[in-house]
Amino acid sequence: MKPSRRETLALLAGSAATVLAGPAQARAEPTLSEAARGAGIVFGTSIAADTLADPAQATLYRREAGIFTVDYALKFGALRPEADQFLTADADAILAFAGPIPVRGHTLAWNESRPDWLMALSTAEKRKALDRHVDETVGYYAGKLHSWDVVNEPFWPGHGLPGGFRDGPWLEAFGEGYVERAFRRTAAADPNVRLVLNEAMTERWDETGAAIRAGLLKLVDRLQDRGVRLDVVGLQGHMLPQYPYDDNGFSDFVAELATRRVDIYITELDIDDARFPRDVAARDAMVAARYRDFLSAVLVVPAVKMVITWQLADSASWYYHGELEAHPSASRLPRPLPFNDHLQPKPARDAMLAAFGSRRA
Ligand code: G3I
Repeated sequence: MKPSRRETLALLAGSAATVLAGPAQARAEPTLSEAARGAGIVFGTSIAADTLADPAQATLYRREAGIFTVDYALKFGALRPEADQFLTADADAILAFAGPIPVRGHTLAWNESRPDWLMALSTAEKRKALDRHVDETVGYYAGKLHSWDVVNEPFWPGHGLPGGFRDGPWLEAFGEGYVERAFRRTAAADPNVRLVLNEAMTERWDETGAAIRAGLLKLVDRLQDRGVRLDVVGLQGHMLPQYPYDDNGFSDFVAELATRRVDIYITELDIDDARFPRDVAARDAMVAARYRDFLSAVLVVPAVKMVITWQLADSASWYYHGELEAHPSASRLPRPLPFNDHLQPKPARDAMLAAFGSRRA
């Protein structure tokens, strides 16, 4: 019987624990959050409830991160798998684990996290569902979160809709106005939480990326023209080597976005190494180079205040879980992150330290 994901992680943790729990050595190198602080930014990682159950991973995440983003537990589908449920236990546990480390909520309105019961509602009922979800969820966590990804991934040109908006229950409910509605209701329910508009694929230097960048700039301008509070734009940073990238061109886009007087967070950084060579050393070197080049380019922009990887250790990555689920006996596992599946630093970690070091506070 295939070990569950938690069992697999526990097995990995067992081997990792012996490494991390080894003789206490004075750490010659700064942690990623220490190095980031020296560059005037915050470094963090997404975190899932699984991590809390693995002492070795928990130690690494607490040591390296200056902020956490809740990976899954605050999504609509996780909180409300059924219409009469509001399952906060995992997110509450992450908040308790984080202690003084700030936590980011992810995400209130995303047209992808959509349980069947929601999709079965009428349009009028979907409107009520979004209003209730935002009011209740933001109210429940009021004062406890650093920021909310209020709206995630508003655009997807592939859906062929006017303005390139992403299709889904919230667009059906309110048209593109769902974005403004979600921001206004979040601000009303928690006046102190920072409000983030989070988008994917803006880094791609192709027709799709250009369309999303153009749409995002227009949406930011429209929200601001209507007096909607927008504190931060989150750019996810999932780097997919099958697409073209122009780091300097992207850096110019980030600078253009910054003229809107918003802070900018890189919110979900990771490097998909699926198309890199099989050899681990070669793969790790290419992943490290990608982190170095991308971060060096975007950190030129002073408005970039935060860099968050989408998990911290390879074995916690969505790529890793996806590969294990598709191929349980896979001999080649993804290595997208700064620490490996034994929680040891990789060249990518060194590349990130160097990129942070290259931007002095
Ligand atoms: O925890 C449940 C488990 O109890 C249940 O048995 C199992 C059954 O399938 O599902 C588990 O939940 C999974 C969850 O991850 C936690 O592991 C969901 O099925 C799975 O769909 C979910 O995938 C997440 C995905 O977003 C969809 O929410 C990934 O972990 C997460 O890394 C990914 O993150 C997204 C960002 O939110 C937005 N940007 C893109 C990024 C990558 O897709």
